[in-house]
Amino acid sequence: MKIIAVANRKGGCGKTTTAINLAACIARKDHRVLLLDLDPQGHASLGLNAYREDARDLYHVFTGQAELEEIILHDVFPGLDVVPATLTLAMAEHLPEDIGARDRLLEERLADVRDRYDYVVIDCPPSLGLLSLNALAASDLVLIPIEMSTFGLAGVERMYETIALLRKREERDIAIRVLPTLVDSRTRLCRHFLREVWQRFAEDVSPGAVLFTVRLREAVHKGVPIVAYDPTSAAAAQYDALAKELMSVLRGEPKPTNTTGQMTAIGRALEEARRRNVNDKRRQVVLRFPGYGGRDVLLAGDFNNWEPDHNVLVTRRVGDTVEKVLSLQPGVYQYRLVVDGQWQDDTANPERASNLVGGYNSILRVEEQAEAVHA
Ligand SMILES: Nc1ncnc2c1ncn2[C@@H]1O[C@H](COP(=O)(O)OP(=O)(O)OP(=O)(O)O)[C@@H](O)[C@H]1O
Ligand SMILES: [Mg+2]
Repeated sequence: MKIIAVANRKGGCGKTTTAINLAACIARKDHRVLLLDLDPQGHASLGLNAYREDARDLYHVFTGQAELEEIILHDVFPGLDVVPATLTLAMAEHLPEDIGARDRLLEERLADVRDRYDYVVIDCPPSLGLLSLNALAASDLVLIPIEMSTFGLAGVERMYETIALLRKREERDIAIRVLPTLVDSRTRLCRHFLREVWQRFAEDVSPGAVLFTVRLREAVHKGVPIVAYDPTSAAAAQYDALAKELMSVLRGEPKPTNTTGQMTAIGRALEEARRRNVNDKRRQVVLRFPGYGGRDVLLAGDFNNWEPDHNVLVTRRVGDTVEKVLSLQPGVYQYRLVVDGQWQDDTANPERASNLVGGYNSILRVEEQAEAVHA
């Protein structure tokens, strides 16, 4: 049985999303997996529709009120069992001193189910308290997700130190993988963070990276892993690749040693994201209507279902010219203006077509290379 702790003191960096989806991906490879919710917020339980306010959790196990086997929920997802958490678990951060080696409780209890599971994935709380320490002390591999949109590194160094102490105390190896999450390759800041992570953590950085996508949020809200919610999505593929990588590391196979290789892998993921982005050919388009100083001008067309100013990003006034900024796919559109409440065509635009109500609609052509407002 191999134990993976997903931990980072920083909140909101994708620990729970990673724990759920990693566990589900390993389970899909015909392994018996236990996902352990070690966060009193119970998000991993919630994200798999396995939360119950009155459930017993590891606090009851640590204090001898329940056996680990009794609180396991079976087959929450095919091949995946879950130990849920509730707010009660917060009390485990303050277990009395006389309870024994307080950071060894989880390891001891997990020994009871050693024969039942191939992998245990632990979702840690956003702190380095007693609960997280128990997880680190029990683990064969610590996976540290780092959010690339805000780049919180505070706490990661502390985790490295703690793991180094544990390695020494227990005279065994504890592998570390650093996982860039919420990667948005379009932002320069994110690319800068990625480079810094590669520089600081070198070969500990996972060649996989999890890109930002709303599909993961949707899956959590539906209470299912991404591999069930949208099996063909990029996020499902990214978590599957992560599962393969971690299983290989845990089998003792050599991990990729050169950072160039890893950068290439992440680079490929970023390139894929860029390609998807390229397929979205929307352009920011500026429409200028001179001679309307001091008047109320709204824009309606087939691009906004003829709802005046709907989807207009910005309205600007430059002298007596009103400018409207829109984001549109290349194509040919029809539009009209609503000036001080009156519908009319754009008199400055010679290209127009008669409409069904006896007037004219103006024509707007968005070329592939339309004027970009923000380069
Ligand atoms: N790759 C992603 N793309 C988009 N949204 C994501 C991604 N990963 C996580 N999220 C969203 O970001 C938020 C925080 O993620 P998550 O709950 O997994 O973080 P966490 O580290 O477990 O947080 P906490 O520290 O509170 O336990 C959630 O709303 C989640 O749905
Ligand atoms: Mg969480």
